Amino acid sequence: MKIAVVLGTRPEIIKMAPVIDEITKNNDECILIHTGQHYDIEMSKQFFEDLNIKIPDYNIGIGSKTAIKQISIIISELEKILLDENVDIVLVQGDTNTVLAGALASNKLKIPVGHVEAGLRSFDKNMPEETNRIIADNCSELYFVPTEETAINLQNEGIAHNKIHITGNTIVDACFRHKDIAKEKSILKENIIFDEYIALTMHRAENVDDSERLTNIINALLSLDKNIVFPIHPHTRKSLEELDLYEKVLNSENIQVTKPLGYLDFLYLISNSQLILTDSGGVQEEAITLNIPCITLRYNTERPETITAGGNILAGTTSEEISRNINHILDNPDVYKSMQNASNPYGDGTSSKQIIKIIKDSIINDTLNVKKADSITDFIGYKKYSIKNDITVNQYEKTNKGHIIEQVFDDENPLCISDDLNLKDMDIIVKIFKTK
Ligand code: UD1
Ligand code: UDP
Repeated sequence: MKIAVVLGTRPEIIKMAPVIDEITKNNDECILIHTGQHYDIEMSKQFFEDLNIKIPDYNIGIGSKTAIKQISIIISELEKILLDENVDIVLVQGDTNTVLAGALASNKLKIPVGHVEAGLRSFDKNMPEETNRIIADNCSELYFVPTEETAINLQNEGIAHNKIHITGNTIVDACFRHKDIAKEKSILKENIIFDEYIALTMHRAENVDDSERLTNIINALLSLDKNIVFPIHPHTRKSLEELDLYEKVLNSENIQVTKPLGYLDFLYLISNSQLILTDSGGVQEEAITLNIPCITLRYNTERPETITAGGNILAGTTSEEISRNINHILDNPDVYKSMQNASNPYGDGTSSKQIIKIIKDSIINDTLNVKKADSITDFIGYKKYSIKNDITVNQYEKTNKGHIIEQVFDDENPLCISDDLNLKDMDIIVKIFKTK
């Protein structure tokens, strides 16, 4: 089996590290393609060292450009590489410009795409990440989704249930594998100047490219009577410098600014924090994995499971709401404890193992190929049926040739579809094709 992994930014490197590890453990071939979207040592190379990943076979070296230039150049460079390499599948992870370009290039070359962390939706199309993930999902053949909620997002968009696999999130694999190593090896503890602190990360375009929002958030943080450690993303640093706010943050007594941290140092930092303040996707997931209460500096999240589980709160970006939520959590031991005890919706740290097994099985069963036109027959339409008898999804689809179940409702609640789900007393929506 020959698998190409396309990655380009810090979170993709971290979340694909366990998958790359699993590919090599199985003696399969991994072609590693770095787009170079992140290129500073502390945004890229550091993670290859901390997570023990091989040097990429290719580096497109795209660097910082407009989204259109990044995406179009990556696509055309990938065309040459992928035509040469003849891989069984291309894996992409998440929702960056790299992911959109990787998925689209592979789809155009008719190479099956496996999307790791598929199905997340913020329903906010102002976010570049939202369109990136929707397009990447449209280009994919295999969907590795973290939770049932994300599986349902894909079902609602008409993605066939047998292509969707709930595997948890590979961030849990990365976190579990490295948190003890971080405790042992991180040298950060000597450098943190506070005994108790809130860990802060922020880089989301809708916060740091909006001068009013960024100024609001910074003013809220400067006026807090709490200590903050803030490893600063280069994007954020640039925006703060442009607004003449960077020096102000550097000189503030309650905020310790550091350069972006390597994975071990960052895990050490958040594991020992009282609270996490963030607009990052991956950090929301790590917070609940490490049992640290989290406040998200956004108005929506594509990780709603963290909110329903009780480990994360959406505070938006106003001074009042940020301070109110911090004080509410830190001044109320019961609130704090219940957030700490929120159960992790992202799995048990075996996500990468499951992903590689699913790919292997799909290749063995010959289900990974992008379908040829003659295997797709006329579409008749959608129908809704109420099922009265005991029958599983698998049995229903075998008995009713040409029927593909798109959605299942138990009363008004949509359910995640699996082969052995019993449909008795459920309503189903079915896509019907003419059979040969
Ligand atoms: C990108 C992703 C975002 C992801 C984040 C992870 C997109 C649209 N955005 O955001 O979804 O959450 O990565 O961190 O793909 N820069 C450097 N050095 C670097 C990288 C970036 O200085 O190594 C600076 C440059 O000024 C650059 C800016 O950061 O213009 C933004 O970089 P870019 O990769 O476009 O977006 P991120 O904000 O990093
Ligand atoms: N991270 C890190 N060092 C830092 C900040 C974050 O190693 O200084 C890691 C963090 O552990 C998480 C990932 O970066 O796994 C999240 O990446 P980021 O916040 O840049 O992107 P997002 O997840 O929002 O796409």
